[in-house]
Amino acid sequence: MEMEGQAIIVTGGASGIGKETVKQLAAKGASVVIADFNSEAAESLVAEIGLVDKVVSYKVDVSKAEEVEAMVHWTAEKFNTINGIFNNAGIGLVKPLLELDPASYHKVIDVDQHSVYYGIYYTAKKMVELGVQGTIVNTASIYGSIAALGSFNYNAAKAAVVMMTKSAALELSDYGIRSVGVAPGFIDTPILGDSDEAKEQLAQLHMRQQLIKPEQVANVVTFLFTDAANAVNGQTIPVDDGFLS
Ligand code: NAI
Repeated sequence: MEMEGQAIIVTGGASGIGKETVKQLAAKGASVVIADFNSEAAESLVAEIGLVDKVVSYKVDVSKAEEVEAMVHWTAEKFNTINGIFNNAGIGLVKPLLELDPASYHKVIDVDQHSVYYGIYYTAKKMVELGVQGTIVNTASIYGSIAALGSFNYNAAKAAVVMMTKSAALELSDYGIRSVGVAPGFIDTPILGDSDEAKEQLAQLHMRQQLIKPEQVANVVTFLFTDAANAVNGQTIPVDDGFLS
């Protein structure tokens, strides 16, 4: 088992891309913390995977620095190590710029951007303290590179994630910590909403005219956590079926 003995936190691990990544990391032997504020969904994933004391849930609001700090400490204590984090939890809140009140702006910036700083900062500090090497993976988006209508807040947050990923790589590589990202296209998860018609329109934007499955993003994320990816650093890999091409 390639990742036996490693402990990885997956934020937003109870649903979508995070959930599939939890399953794949666990299948490679890693200990995984499903970090989500939906503790009910996290607990049912723990039960589904059934690796008691190896895949565990932790209720957290990643937009709160002190909660992320406590989670990182808890993980290191529980597993006697911490080898990385998948900063993946995120929300969307679509509003035209002229209706984007400060609360709606800050909500998305807090969850999608500041959480990534907290995850990188507290995890890297703990890894350096313990002398542990490993990987940080962040979820950006195609909308970190191009603008979308109604997405001023989301565009800003995801562009910041792309740059934080590079900046962290520059600062942390000397400690044996890589920082990399994924930029998903349109992934078939609850974040896309319930409208089949809207989903079909989004699917048409991909080269193969299909929505991407969350496990297809998890495949790339899981690879990035492995040693086979040790020459990938600082970059955010599009998983978008050619959308940005
Ligand atoms: P999802 O809605 O299936 O999963 C998101 C998870 O994050 C949920 O379990 C939710 O409870 C959790 N979460 C939300 N806010 C949280 C908070 N403050 N603290 C802790 N947990 C929180 O969505 P999906 O699609 O799996 O999204 C994962 C990431 O992928 C997000 O960052 C999203 O922006 C990004 N993304 C998704 C795309 C898509 O088309 N689905 C496209 C590009 C990026």
